[in-house]
Amino acid sequence: SSTPMAPLEPSNLLEPVYRNVADNLDVVRKTLDRPLTLAEKVVYGHLDDPTTRAVRGETYLKLRPDRVAMQDATAQMATLQFISAGLPTTQVPTTVHCDHLIAAQEGAGEDLARAKSENAEVYDFLSSASSKYGMGFWRPGSGIIHQIVLENYAFPGGLMIGTDSHTPNAGGLGMVAVGVGGADAVDVMAGLPWELKAPKIIGVKLSGKLTGWASAKDVILKVAGILTVKGGTGAIIEYFGEGVDSLSCTGMGTICNMGAEIGATTSIFPYNSRMGDYLNATGRQGIASLAETYSENLRADDSAVYDQIIEVDLSTLEPHVNGPFTPDLAHPLSQFKAAVEKQGWPPELTVGLIGSCTNSSYEDMSRSASIVRQALDKGVKSKSLFNITPGSEQVRATIARDGIIDTFEETGGTVLANACGPCIGQWNRSDVPKGTPNSIVTSFNRNFSMRNDGNPQTHTFITSPELVTAMALSGRLDFNPLTDELTAADGSSFKLELPKGDELPARGYDPGEDTFQPPMEDASAVKVHVDPSSARLQLLEPFQAWNGSDYEDLPILIKALGKCTTDHISMAGPWLKYRGHLDNISNNMLIGAVNAENGEINSVKNSLTGEYGAVPDVARAYKAAGVQWVVVGDENYGEGSSREHAALEPRHLGGVAVLVRSFARIHETNLKKQGMLPLTFATPEDYDKIDPEDKLSITGLSTFAPGVPLSVVVKKPGGVTLNVTVNHTFNADQIEWFKAGSALNKIKSDLLS
Ligand code: F3S
Repeated sequence: SSTPMAPLEPSNLLEPVYRNVADNLDVVRKTLDRPLTLAEKVVYGHLDDPTTRAVRGETYLKLRPDRVAMQDATAQMATLQFISAGLPTTQVPTTVHCDHLIAAQEGAGEDLARAKSENAEVYDFLSSASSKYGMGFWRPGSGIIHQIVLENYAFPGGLMIGTDSHTPNAGGLGMVAVGVGGADAVDVMAGLPWELKAPKIIGVKLSGKLTGWASAKDVILKVAGILTVKGGTGAIIEYFGEGVDSLSCTGMGTICNMGAEIGATTSIFPYNSRMGDYLNATGRQGIASLAETYSENLRADDSAVYDQIIEVDLSTLEPHVNGPFTPDLAHPLSQFKAAVEKQGWPPELTVGLIGSCTNSSYEDMSRSASIVRQALDKGVKSKSLFNITPGSEQVRATIARDGIIDTFEETGGTVLANACGPCIGQWNRSDVPKGTPNSIVTSFNRNFSMRNDGNPQTHTFITSPELVTAMALSGRLDFNPLTDELTAADGSSFKLELPKGDELPARGYDPGEDTFQPPMEDASAVKVHVDPSSARLQLLEPFQAWNGSDYEDLPILIKALGKCTTDHISMAGPWLKYRGHLDNISNNMLIGAVNAENGEINSVKNSLTGEYGAVPDVARAYKAAGVQWVVVGDENYGEGSSREHAALEPRHLGGVAVLVRSFARIHETNLKKQGMLPLTFATPEDYDKIDPEDKLSITGLSTFAPGVPLSVVVKKPGGVTLNVTVNHTFNADQIEWFKAGSALNKIKSDLLS
């Protein structure tokens, strides 16, 4: 069949993908010889070596994803790294989406125009790099990455990685879609396999059918309450049971999207006719029919075994409101009013926000509009401010055509740009001064303190768009449309009737403005533009290869005390704007780490001058003097995020090794990728024997081999030395990365040889 994986990429065919998965599964079944869950079929079907014996929760799998998606904040460094590998095009279909850098302030038109001018150099860079390296580029205004992926690229049974934590949204179309750091994306774009520990599988069995005000969102709000923010860690959440067929495809997307809030690797639904309907409505009939052909691999085997099973009866599922400050604090609607009163949460609702990557389908919008319409018919407008974020230009154009936007505007709502906006904190909110306690309710996915508006006193609650709308109309956080009435313009009271809406637009989708820039056939003439004087972007120089000798007498830049997460190593917040400029963002290196010598942050002694200075300044002074250095750290060094900057920065400023009691695994791998030596004390107590003024020599590198420890000679200022054995987890390939100076250097040299 000549059906492409995505209509926008006619030359990448789907059937070979399905056939390859089927062939791999034939091999996998011989090894495992037991029924498989759907998630296992998709994951193991993408094994680089299908003879790998996967043990859930244990084996590290090398996988071959079908796609990569990147948003504009994370794509910058990933693309810069990809460029430095020197490959002509990405080896796996890749798209870039401009959604994170658009701040909400006045409304779609003004906000988009402002973002385009403020971020012009970033957009130009991503656009030209996309053309040059064969990536699809979605211009600002096109919509939110996860919505665009669902509309255009997700397909049942596919494996995708994306540089954003809500990538799992594509599970609504039966895809295993996992949020990763930029370093993983670069590997896959460069043709390397992607490593994932075989996930555990949590089954969620759905029975019955949604009724009343309950919606798909309430499924995940309920599950989040059961599993809590940590309950899904290391697991894929797989939905099954007869209740699945009562959910729309986009509703399943909402559920999978918010699986990120319980720490799940991803979430997935089995292929069904609702997905088929959505594929048909979005111009992908061919994919739907191929999915039918291969449907055996798009659902779990009978009697597949899950690591844990949760049951949710949709027929009795109540609408939920979760929050504040954490998405797992779940309140059934019938108990919410009492909770608001008991906890003293501000009962007035300042703003209701609907849409975002989580909940902006045509169904969501039309159901919300039906509630607004009922109120308008009674002469009632929204009492709270009401913001609408369409997930994509296609959704925006379609709801504009169908009068839904008019309805929202009639009630006083503001339609924001098709972008992340308030969902990611890109919200220049002006109705409430910072520090004022207030409540807002959103149909988004996250509600940590300060997430939306930077005000720690804003209590954010998460619910379905329908309920957000009803609450906004009433102006009350504690409004329950099942029991409470609104007052009409004529003074009479009325109750809102059940929301009604179409799952898919009866007149089809209106694509709206064309905001897509396809990959170019011949990009030889394209120049990727990076202004050498830019503060936000900087092309990367390849790191130097190892010179073949042991490291001698290295100063310790900092002996970090206690917790040192990727936030301590490379802080976020205001530094985000330098994500594409390694030298500038390196000014945040380790500025959050506590110096064991003096208990202070960002104050370390320069061993060349004896003076104290900021960590990045001292590192720069060493680098200028040609002195390489090491970091010493404690337990679980580098936990937190997969941010590759936390490994790039020390390498850029002249670090060669990080010696700790233990590592967070992803950071450890990231350090290896950048050509650094992550080492652990064979005897953890040796951490205590090292003083910040000691000099360290790392020996045994000429015989560096997997499983063979290295030695560190510690020279005390008085001349005493001690020998410390250090372990490493390098395999043979990774040792080549170290020797070449980085994983990318190695890829490049392999390519040239
Ligand atoms: Fe993420 Fe929301 Fe955008 S969760 S992709 S920030 S709309």
